Amino acid sequence: MSQRLRPVSPIWVAGRPQHGEEEFFVTHPYDESPVGATSWATAGQVEAAVAAASGAARECASLPAHVRAEALEHVRRRLDEEAETCAELITAESGKPIAWSRVEVRRAVSTFRWAAEEARRFVGEVQRLDTDPTAEGRLALVRRFPRGPVLGISPFNFPLNLVAHKVGPAIAAGCPIVVKPAPATPLSALHLGALFSETDLPPAMLSVLPVPDHRADQLVDDPRLPVVSFTGSAPVGKQILRRIPDKHVTLELGGNAAVLVSADYPKRDWAAERIAMYGNYQAGQSCIAVQRVFIEAPAYADMAARITEQVKALPSGDPNDPSCKVGPLISTDAAVRVEAWIEEAVDEGAKVLCGGAPREGSLIEPTVLANVRPDAKVLREEVFGPVLVLASVDSFETGLAAINDSRYGLQAGVFTESLPQAMLAHRTLDVGGVIIGDVPSFRADQMPYGGVKGSGVGREGVRWAMEDYTVERVVVLPDTL
Ligand code: SIN
Repeated sequence: MSQRLRPVSPIWVAGRPQHGEEEFFVTHPYDESPVGATSWATAGQVEAAVAAASGAARECASLPAHVRAEALEHVRRRLDEEAETCAELITAESGKPIAWSRVEVRRAVSTFRWAAEEARRFVGEVQRLDTDPTAEGRLALVRRFPRGPVLGISPFNFPLNLVAHKVGPAIAAGCPIVVKPAPATPLSALHLGALFSETDLPPAMLSVLPVPDHRADQLVDDPRLPVVSFTGSAPVGKQILRRIPDKHVTLELGGNAAVLVSADYPKRDWAAERIAMYGNYQAGQSCIAVQRVFIEAPAYADMAARITEQVKALPSGDPNDPSCKVGPLISTDAAVRVEAWIEEAVDEGAKVLCGGAPREGSLIEPTVLANVRPDAKVLREEVFGPVLVLASVDSFETGLAAINDSRYGLQAGVFTESLPQAMLAHRTLDVGGVIIGDVPSFRADQMPYGGVKGSGVGREGVRWAMEDYTVERVVVLPDTL
C-alpha cells in the first residue's frame, strides 16, 4: 500500500516553529516509503532552546497550577479530537499496527488528563514536629520545587505516549523541557510541539528538537539541563549515567519480561491468549513485551500447545490493515539481529514450536521456542522482537526464582488465583511491577512504572515522574501564631 507523504514538519525551538539545517525523510518501516520529513536542529538551535529553557525556569516554576492544568487539558482535548490522524501518524513512522496506534493515542489522552489533574493536586505535606520536646511549637511544611529544566530523550516504540510521559509531568511540575525524540520517529513528538504552541504556556517551556544520536552529548552534558529522563536501550542509558554523575538521571531501559503460569491456574485459554498477544504486540518492541514464559510442569504441555496455537493465529503483515496484529520491526537491521538471535538458539538445540525466523525485510514471523539453553541471547538479553521462550519449572517458587534470574527487572506477570501465591510473588520478585492474573505488559499510565537492576532508575507514571523532576524543600514555621 503506498503511503501518504505529509508536509515537512517544523521543529520547535522554545515554542516557535523553525527549520533546521538538513531535511530528512521519515520512512515507513513496512515498505521504507517516505511518510513525512523534518530537519535536524542546528547546534545554534539547540543552544537557543536550552538557553530559553534555563532563562524561563523561574517563571515556569511559579506558573499557577490552573495555567499548567489548562494547557495540559487543551492538549488532551486536541489529541482526542485528532485521534485518528495521530494514530495514522504513529503507524506511518513506527510501523505499529493501526489498532495498537489507536490504543497508544487513547493512552496519551489519559496521560495528559492525569498530568492536568496532578498539576492541580501536587502540593506537598504538613508534618508535625511537636513529637519531641525540642520542637514543640513548630510545624514543617514540605513542598517540592522543580530541579530545573528537563532533557527528555524518548524511544521509537511509543512515539507519542512515551513523549507524553516526559512532557506531561514536566509541565505539570512547572519544569521547562527539551525533548529529543527518537530519530526514526520524530513526527508525533513534533506534532505535540504544535499542539502546545496553541496554549498560554511560556513558549520557552517546550522545545522538540530532532538531533542525531551522535550529537546528543551537546544536550546531555549541558549543565543548564540538570534533569535527564531517558527511555531507550540499556547500553546507552548506562553511558549517560556514567557521563553525568552529578545530574539527576532517570532511566527506563527495558528488560526480558517474564510470566509464570501456576499449575492450578484455571483460565488457561485466557493466559495463552494474553501471552501470545503480548509477546508479539508491536512485534515485541515494548520493554514489557512477554519474552520468557515459565509454566509449572503439570500444565506445561497443555499450555505450550495453547500458546503456540494462539501465536500461529495472529495476523501479521501490513500494519495499516485494521486486522493486523503483528507488524514490522522498526528497521530491516533490527529484524536481521532478531533473526540471528533465533538462529543462534536453534543452532544450539532449541525446539521451534512455530515461526523460527523466516524474515521478509523488516518482518519476522512470530516465533515460539522451547528447550532453549540458559545462556542463549533470546533468554538472557532483551529480544525486542516477536519471540517467546517457553520453559517448564518444578514449582511455583522455582518459577519465581527463574524470573529473578535476569539482570533486568521491569515488570513480571503471574497467572495465579491464589492470594498466598500472589503475595509471595509480590514479596519475592525483583521488579518494578508485578501483574497478577495477566501479562507483564499491562500498564496503566498513572501507576508507577520503572525497573530495578539493569532496567533502570526512577519511575514514570505522571505523579512519580513529577517527584523525579522536583526536590523537597522544607520550611519550619512557628505553630503558635
Ligand atoms: C515501554 O516500552 O517501556 C513502554 C511500555 C508501555 O508504556 O506500555
